[in-house]
Parts: sequence; C-alpha cells; structure tokens
Amino acid sequence: MFSFKALTIWAAASAIPLIFAVSPQAYTWKNVKIGGGGGFVPGIVFNPKEKGLAYARTDIGGAYKLNADDTWTPLLDFADDARWNYWGVDALATDPVQPNRLYLATGMYTNSWDPNNGQILISTDYGKTFTASKLPFKVGGNMPGRGMGERLAIDPNNNAVLYFGARSGNGLWKSVNFGSTWTKVSSFTNTGTFIPDASDSSGYNSDKIGISWVTFDSTSGSSGSSTPRIFVGVASKGSNNIFVSNDAGSTWSAVAGQNTTFIPHKGVLSPAEKALYVTYSDGAGPYDGTLGSIYKYNIATSTWTDITPVSGSDLYFGFGGFTVDLQKPGTIMVAALNSWWPDGQIFRSTDGGASWSPLWAWASYPTMNKYYSYSDSLAPWLGPNYVDGTAGNLQIGWMMESLVINPFDSNHWLYGTGATIYGGRDLLKWDTTHNVTIKSLADGIEETSIQGLISPPSGPTLLSAVGDIEGFVHTSLDSAPATSFLNPKWSTSADIDFAGNKPTNIVRIGTGDRYVPKSLSYLSKN
Ligand SMILES: *[C@@H]1O[C@H](CO)[C@@H](O)[C@H](O)[C@H]1NC(C)=O
Ligand SMILES: *[C@@H]1O[C@H](CO)[C@@H](O)[C@H](O)[C@H]1NC(C)=O
Repeated sequence: MFSFKALTIWAAASAIPLIFAVSPQAYTWKNVKIGGGGGFVPGIVFNPKEKGLAYARTDIGGAYKLNADDTWTPLLDFADDARWNYWGVDALATDPVQPNRLYLATGMYTNSWDPNNGQILISTDYGKTFTASKLPFKVGGNMPGRGMGERLAIDPNNNAVLYFGARSGNGLWKSVNFGSTWTKVSSFTNTGTFIPDASDSSGYNSDKIGISWVTFDSTSGSSGSSTPRIFVGVASKGSNNIFVSNDAGSTWSAVAGQNTTFIPHKGVLSPAEKALYVTYSDGAGPYDGTLGSIYKYNIATSTWTDITPVSGSDLYFGFGGFTVDLQKPGTIMVAALNSWWPDGQIFRSTDGGASWSPLWAWASYPTMNKYYSYSDSLAPWLGPNYVDGTAGNLQIGWMMESLVINPFDSNHWLYGTGATIYGGRDLLKWDTTHNVTIKSLADGIEETSIQGLISPPSGPTLLSAVGDIEGFVHTSLDSAPATSFLNPKWSTSADIDFAGNKPTNIVRIGTGDRYVPKSLSYLSKN
C-alpha cells in the first residue's frame, strides 16, 4: 500500500530445487497468484473509443491492462532494478483517437528516496512495449496526492498534444509530438500551494502536490485541431485552484465563481451535459480527508452548483473517485475518499446530482442496510480475513480515489481501494432493486512488496513474507491463498526462514504498523 519498494512474486513453472548449480536452463516465469492486488489502486481509466479497453495504475506496482475475462495483465513487469521507479505510476492516459496509444507518467518519489527523475512511458501497442521520454524533474507515483488526477491528458481532437501536471512546483508541461519531447507551459503560472506537512524533514510530506488534473472539454473543438477549452486543477486551498484556457492553452484564467475551500481531486467532463464535475477533499489523500464537497460547473452558463450528497454530521470525509455514465447523461457516481467507519461509501445520482442514493444506510444503529452483496472469491484473503483488524472490517474499502463506469456498458463498473479493485456487472440494479453485486476484481494485479521467500524441501511449495499484508502459505502457485498469515498478525512480515534440519520449523518476523484502532496512525509511518 505504501511500501518503499515493490517486487512481484515470481516463480518458475518448473519445480524449485535450488540447491545445486545447474547448467543454464530455460525457465518459464509466471506470477505467483494471490488474486487481488494487495495495495492501493489510485487510478483506473477506460478508453472512450475502444470498447472494453481499460487500464489501472498502482503506486508501487506498475500498471495493468484489463482483459475481457475481468483479469488484468501487468505492463511493467519488465522493469529491472535499474528502472524500479517505473513501478510508481502517478498518471495514465489512454488515447481517445488512436486507442493503441498509452502513456504512463512514472517515477516513485520526489524526495531523496528516489534519486532519479521521472519519465513518460510511451506505448503505441496497448502497453506491450514502451519507450521512455525522460523528464527534467521527478515524478511521485507513491507520493501524497497520487490519487488525484489524471494529471496526464491527451487532446481528444488532436492527439499529438498532451499535457502533464507536475509536482514540486514544476508547473504544467506540454508535448506536441505524442509525448516524445516536453516543454513547460510558460503561460500557466500557478503551480499549487498545498503541502501536506511542511515540517516533515524526510521531504515526503513537505513537497508541493502541484497540478492535480488536466481535463479537455472535447465539446469545445472539432477533430483535427487542438481543443480550445482545457480545465486544470491544482492542489491549493483558499486560493484559486481551477483554471481554464479557451484558446488551446495560450492563455489561462481562474474559473469565476469557484469555491476554493477544499482541494479539487478530480475534474470529470460530462460531454452531453456540457458540465465539469469536481470532487473536493480537505486533504491531499490518500489517507486523510474529513470534509469535502462536489460541485457541478455548467460550462454553457458558467455557473457552479454545490451537489454534495450529504451534510452536517453525515459528512466526515472528503470525496475522491468520480465517474459519469457516458451512456446515460446525468447518471454519475462518487466515492467517499475515506469513510473509515463503519465502511466506505459510494453515492449514485441519475439526475445530475440533484438527488443521490447511497451504497449503504443505517437501518437503525448499529444495523446497516447494505444495498449490495459482496464476494471476495477471487482473493479470499481480502474481506473478513484481511490482515488489518480495523480496516479489514471495511468491506467496501478505503482510499477510494478511482471509480469508473465502462463507457460502453452501464452495468460494468470498477473502483480502486487501498487494497484491491472491486466492481461488478449489474450496476443498473442500483436504480431498480437498489442492490448490486460487488466482487473483488483485481485478479492479475500484483503490487506487493516482497520481503522474503522460502521454498522448504518439504511442505508447502512457497511461503512469502510480504509488506503491508503479512504474506502467505502458497500451497498452490496458481490459485489465490485463502488467508494471509493470521497468527500473529502484524502488517509487514519482514523476513521468513526455515530450519534446515527440520523444515517444518518456520520463523517469521514482522513489524506492526497496522493493528491499531485509528487508521490515521498509518500516516505516522510515512
Ligand atoms: C464553499 O464551500 C464550503 C465548504 O463546502 C461551504 O461551507 C461554503 O458555504 C461555500 N461557499 C460558498 C460561497 O458557497
Ligand atoms: C442485498 O442483497 C444481498 C444478497 O442477496 C442481501 O444479503 C442484502 O440483505 C440485500 N440488501 C438489502 C438492503 O436488502
């Protein structure tokens, strides 16, 4: 979730006698299946042109492409130690004109933990292969505010043009040649003021979050020439944080009438409504946020409407993921970024935010009406068995910065949490029976930090020590384990070993940063 380094668990398809040096032999390497992610999924993006095409990005474990059978294929597993910062993906853009084109803004940290500058990874074959365009600054795929976005965007009318919103005060950048080279947009002078914690001497929380999203108004232009209207959100509180250009990026001004109380996390266009929806939180995320709002900006009339679904004592979170159903203008959904208790929350509206219905509501305390059924069959170690005694009780999830409805299928939706991807294929039931199916749908996503692996000469094939989620006894390498290690439960297993003369004796050591009553104590770890 927020480990310092990601490694996918790998195993050769052949058995694992590691004792003798053998002559070179061809191995077929495959991922060891855990079935469900294992960390934060800050971004999921559907392509608006090609049916079924979608990608997910993770903070320490690379990017993934969705398959028709709901599994995911890793795109960055080729990255070796020298390119470990490719696994931190701070933004993702899939081309609305030529869907084969995919761009990833990668780099792990903007402080000293990552000595390398970032890069835009460019693919013209749906992520099978990439070329890297080096940036002259760092990119923070595992930094605060990584769930905002997307901060990388492709012009839907002229797809050679891309914008990237940088962190650290580096401003807005533009490419006019499909991402090959980048120049700073000198006319865009606001670089964002928000810093999570200026006193953090590690540099992790004391860096500027910077530009948080770039959204083209596709309806303002026509195919073949650069889109005139572009909205840009920046991480600031108390001063203008949403800007617009009406001349394809030559000049910029603050959008009039905006409410600057909170930080804009997402700016999502609803083309049919000619509206921009903005979710706000009082923190940068992904862990924080105790207040927030949602606004709808009517582009034709230049008016803002507050459409926040809850108020008063019911509002104890900021808002993160937001999506519009492109098949049904006015149908929108939003996720509470972190409703730590009693569970995560998602709201849906079919009238452009005039009225909302929730994913759960109190029947009479402490009984909840859950307007969903839940299945973690693909990754049974999630849900009730989850390692974290506290967040484990959250079925719906936390750190919910990504929420998407398939642009070609109103029933198909996905959302990312701090632990996995959930979603389902019967979303329209929300509007009829008000009861949808939520399933763990992260099969193929592997974004854990592997601390140790053993393959004792007898017993289970493999045992793993894993950051944040303990680790597993892998009785099979091809099916998801039922639980992580449960007794004792810490969070991170730092190492694991077995006694050579008695391989059934296994020792595991760990650190407990998770078994705590209040989830915000996670913050202190970073
Ligand atoms: C701006 O947003 C805050 C927080 O939602 C709200 O309390 C305030 O009334 C809003 N200001 C205006 C002028 O609407
Ligand atoms: C929704 O359906 C599930 C599965 O059938 C059921 O357990 C749950 O009680 C239903 N929710 C409500 C509020 O009726």
